[in-house]
Formats: sequence, C-alpha cells, structure tokens
Amino acid sequence: MSGYIVDDARKVTTRRFQEMKEQGKKIAMLTSYDYTTAKIVDAAGVDAILVGDSASNVMAGNQTTLPITLDQMIYHAQAVVRAVKRALVVCDMPFGTYQVNATEGVANAVRIMKETGCDALKLEGGVEIVETVKRILEAGIPVMGHLGLMPQSINKYGTYTVRAKEEAEAEKLVSDAKALADAGCFALTLEKIPAELAQRVTSEVNIPVIGIGAGGGVDGQVLVVADMLGMTQGFSPKFLRRYADLNRIMSDAIGQYVTDVKSGDFPNEQEQY
Ligand code: KIV
Repeated sequence: MSGYIVDDARKVTTRRFQEMKEQGKKIAMLTSYDYTTAKIVDAAGVDAILVGDSASNVMAGNQTTLPITLDQMIYHAQAVVRAVKRALVVCDMPFGTYQVNATEGVANAVRIMKETGCDALKLEGGVEIVETVKRILEAGIPVMGHLGLMPQSINKYGTYTVRAKEEAEAEKLVSDAKALADAGCFALTLEKIPAELAQRVTSEVNIPVIGIGAGGGVDGQVLVVADMLGMTQGFSPKFLRRYADLNRIMSDAIGQYVTDVKSGDFPNEQEQY
C-alpha cells in the first residue's frame, strides 16, 4: 500500500476542516520539517501538515522547543510548502514571537505568512494570548490554538506529564478553549490531557479539535512524524503508536553501505561511468 486513497483531491482549506467536523470525518495530521518528508506525507493522504516547533527537538537536537528561532521556523516552513500539493500547512509560531505584545505578534505572524506561503499558524496558550490571537485573525491569518501540555511553557510546568487532571486546570482549559473558539480560531490542538476532558471540549466548541495524547473522542489526530515512523529513540509515551521501525531500517541500510564501501563491493561496474 502506498498511501491513503483520498476522496477529495482538492487543496485542504480551513473551511474544509470545519466541514470535516460537521460531517463527522476524522482529520489526519502529521508534522514535517523538510521538503522530502513533506512530499511523502502529503502524497500519502494526510489532511494537514504541522511545521511544528518540535523541529527544535527532532531536527536540531535541542532538549526543548524554546531555542528555535523565527528564521529557522520560516526555513522549515518554506521547504514544506514547496513540497505540498493538498494538505493544509500550519506553522507553529516559535516561543517569544507572540508573547511580548499583540503588535509584535501580528508583525511576526505576517512575516511567516509572507515568507513561507503556509496556510495557517498555531499558537500555544489560552485567555492570556487571546487579544494577540484576535489581532492576528484581524490581519486575515487563520489561527489554530494549542492547549493542554504546551511545550513552550515546560519551564513553568517542570514536567511533560499529563495536564488538566485536576478540576481547576480542567475548567480553565475548557474556558480557554471557548475563548479561542469565540475569538475565531479555526481549530484547536489539545496535547496530553485526559480523553474525557478532550471529548467534552470537542462537544462544547464548534471548531475542529485535533488531539495528541488526548484520546479518540476528538475530531482528528496529530503525531510527530519521526516518532510514528520509529526514527526517534528513547521516547515512548503511551499515546504514541509506531507505524514503522525506520531507525532499524535506516541503520541496517547504512551499515550495509559501510560494509560495501569498505569491502570494495560498492560501486560495481554498473555503478560507474
Ligand atoms: O510542535 C509540534 O510538533 C506540536 C505537536 C506536538 C502538536 O505542536
């Protein structure tokens, strides 16, 4: 099998996202950070590609998402946009580019849209950033919210454990979700929260809710592509389903290449001019 057979080959828009929620069609989303991967991910039938700030961990080897810069996110998003024909491309606004004030947030949002050609932006946070979200929306830029575990706030939490297990945090999350939906966000990501709470949010807001570690009662799922393909090691949260063991496949192939070079088997007569 070489991919999912899509029933609608048109470019996915934020409006199509909304229709999918209304029609009860699940939304499949994955991250990508480079041209080659995004081309495969798009052709295989995902509805949306997230140029996540997880590029900071996955591509650059940082411990957190905090160090990645606006220029670096723009570089990744440009590469992904060049590859994609159908999927909606959403780019994360990196840490520090929208938290200072709304004016700076809009300027940085405009820069990402102008320089990358992506379709929408994702921002972490609830009522604290809602004014900035509104200003970005007023500039004509679609925004996806992100609640629950917000990796840009890892230094505040001190842990990557499940969020909103206690009632107070759960109630704040529900009111944040409503505030973002009321502000005009086209969708919401919920990361690592109890499935029951994610299902409640999904039924109480009228925009699509995409989950990662948030159970099956949401409108769609997102995973980090390197995790679900088994490229990354030492990261096995309960929510992660591995669809391949690319780490082993790549290691075997590279090991064979090294053997062939060292033995003089590669290149052979047909592999030279
Ligand atoms: O950066 C990212 O990959 C994300 C997903 C985990 C949702 O924000």
